[in-house]
Amino acid sequence: MGSGIALTAAQSGLKVWQLDVKADQLERAKAYHRKTLDRAVEKQRITRADADAALARIQYAGSMDAARGAGWVVEAATENVEVKKAIFKQMQQAFPAPAVLATNTSSISITDLAAVVGADAGRVIGMHFFNPVPVMALVEVIKGLATTEETTRRTVELAKAMGKTPIPANDRAGFVSNRVLMPMINEAFHAWMEGVAGPEEIDQIMKLGCNFPMGPLRLADFIGLDVCHDIMMVLHRELGNPKFFPCPMLRQLVQAGRLGDKTGRGVFEYPAK
Ligand code: 3HC
Repeated sequence: MGSGIALTAAQSGLKVWQLDVKADQLERAKAYHRKTLDRAVEKQRITRADADAALARIQYAGSMDAARGAGWVVEAATENVEVKKAIFKQMQQAFPAPAVLATNTSSISITDLAAVVGADAGRVIGMHFFNPVPVMALVEVIKGLATTEETTRRTVELAKAMGKTPIPANDRAGFVSNRVLMPMINEAFHAWMEGVAGPEEIDQIMKLGCNFPMGPLRLADFIGLDVCHDIMMVLHRELGNPKFFPCPMLRQLVQAGRLGDKTGRGVFEYPAK
């Protein structure tokens, strides 16, 4: 998602550093940026000059030092609260006020993450994008307990400047999007496990019957089964309701390393990937 956020920002005229501790991830990001811009040029959505200018606005680096002085940071690391807290402590040092410290978390409490930066909690906010970021219109904006009005106002402005529609949600696990989406996906796994229908039929029923662009099991592969599992665990832990516990079928696929598109196999198979 970080790659999508970086590309969307660059196409909106912002100068961007994409940071990742893994060099191969940065290579994948570069390839994705080039491919997506080339496709937009082929489709005559943008000119070659615009595509080149957007690409030139993105720099790639392995550490936060490279981006010192940036006015805005969007953390988009794995959905693990300890990993995110460690990153937020580094962000606090590397990007002093008035920089906004945003997180693209799917489900983790903004108040909890903000607590690790102490007096800087006012400039922490949730800025939840959706995959694929260049295509999806929404940014869910989540204030933590200490988030200032100024931080919120600036976040709404930035989301609009990136061509997105910002909508506020309160700081409860999963916010609105994943509180509603993930239990539906989890229930599709239960329906499959119980033999209500096969995965193809479940997805076709939801596509044709509810007009979803992807069925819930295809969408789970697209998001990443590990991500879906982690979000369900956060919902289960934070909301304390057994209905949020991940379906055994979902857990088993994750344990088997079948994580969806990114591993070439999840519920369905993607040999080309
Ligand atoms: N990056 C940039 N552009 C992309 C893209 C990507 N990764 N994937 C697709 N696109 C573009 C294509 O280039 C194409 O643009 P064009 O019209 O200019 O050619 C357009 O999107 C449509 O793509 P396709 O024709 O290839 O395929 P589809 O029409 O099937 O659309 C889809 C693909 C947009 C992914 C559509 O299937 C869809 O909307 N799926 C549902 C996605 C969804 O629900 N996302 C939310 C997930 S939840 C989430 O992210 C929250 C997190 O916290 C878990």
